[in-house]
Amino acid sequence: MRIALAYSGGLDTTVLCRWLKENYRAEVITVTVDVGQPTDFRAIEERAYAAGASKHYHVDARSRFVEEFVARDILFNGLYEGEYPLSTALSRYPIAEEVARIALMEGCDAVAHGCTGKGNDQLRMDASLSYFLPDDVRILAPVREQNWSRDWEIDYAIKRGLPIEVKESRFSIDENIWGRSVEGAELEDPWTGPPWDVFKWIKPPSEWPNEPEEIVIRFESGLPVALDGRRMSLWEIISELNVRLGRYGFGLIDHIEDRVIGLKSREVYEAPAALALIRCHQDLEKMVLPARCLKFKAHVDREWTELVYAGLWYHPLREALDRFADELEKNVSGEVKLTLEKGSARISGRRAEKSLYVKDLITYSAESLFDQRHSDGFSRIWSLDVRLQKIMRGPSAR
Ligand code: ARG
Repeated sequence: MRIALAYSGGLDTTVLCRWLKENYRAEVITVTVDVGQPTDFRAIEERAYAAGASKHYHVDARSRFVEEFVARDILFNGLYEGEYPLSTALSRYPIAEEVARIALMEGCDAVAHGCTGKGNDQLRMDASLSYFLPDDVRILAPVREQNWSRDWEIDYAIKRGLPIEVKESRFSIDENIWGRSVEGAELEDPWTGPPWDVFKWIKPPSEWPNEPEEIVIRFESGLPVALDGRRMSLWEIISELNVRLGRYGFGLIDHIEDRVIGLKSREVYEAPAALALIRCHQDLEKMVLPARCLKFKAHVDREWTELVYAGLWYHPLREALDRFADELEKNVSGEVKLTLEKGSARISGRRAEKSLYVKDLITYSAESLFDQRHSDGFSRIWSLDVRLQKIMRGPSAR
């Protein structure tokens, strides 16, 4: 038997690698997909072989992660429950695609992942892997199937002499360029505020610069293309914003999240670039899109976000919504100005080539192109419903 394993190099998947080999007498092919997690990929490869892998693949999916997945999150202002920019969720799709591709190439009989039965990732991985693989390729999720606990895993790793990281963080962390998710330990008490040592990108108050700073972000057709007049790739823009905004203490999320399976969980994220880019994008949309489009798009955004959160990237509805956004976002080009101050990043200006904001119409000065006398008839007709109520209820009701 030959199994392709989605391998992060952490405790779960390292134990999994050895366990699959022993339990199924399988040849295990480990696949590590780079989506911008800061890790030593050489060390991961060595660990995979030490855990019994017969072959290891390292796949650089950084640019496609950003161009095909993160970019869409910006177009749809994708914040799950209004807060979480889907960083972990989005990364699971390219990971599953790459694992499936290698499983097919290597003629594997099964693929395996280390998702637990408590989270959303199992849904994302299962749905995506089964979309890309023929039905006779099995999908194995032993952590879920065997109900493993962390203590059991550590014990197993020690008994087999597996090279797990000794000084592992007390938190469960998932990181990529779009965000860093932190769960567990004292954060499981929703009343306990996250200590500053939870954060890596966001600096504590003692380090916030005294002087404010401005950043101008240019968008074209809904996507960021330049910072302060310098044209850059989306990857570079996100990386730079994470650092510059993090210095000012911006980008922290602490919320109670509803998982698909019905559990509520306390989630802490740092996502400076994601939050700033989505807010700026949304601000620019308001300059360019008519009110009806904004109202309708808010529903679309929410639907898209929930599909992506719930593991349904390869759903025809998501694809159709993508076409909708492509059409609507054509004119969302312009610039948004952010002012960074201690602990905050606020939008302080915006301009757009196809702006529907027309100063000559809105101005209160005498040169206004808007003749307010025309509003008289409009206002009378507008109040018709209310006036009919007056007639119906009679004078005593008032
Ligand atoms: N709740 C988020 C999601 O379902 C993030 C999960 C992150 N995982 C972690 N090990 N911290 O997408």
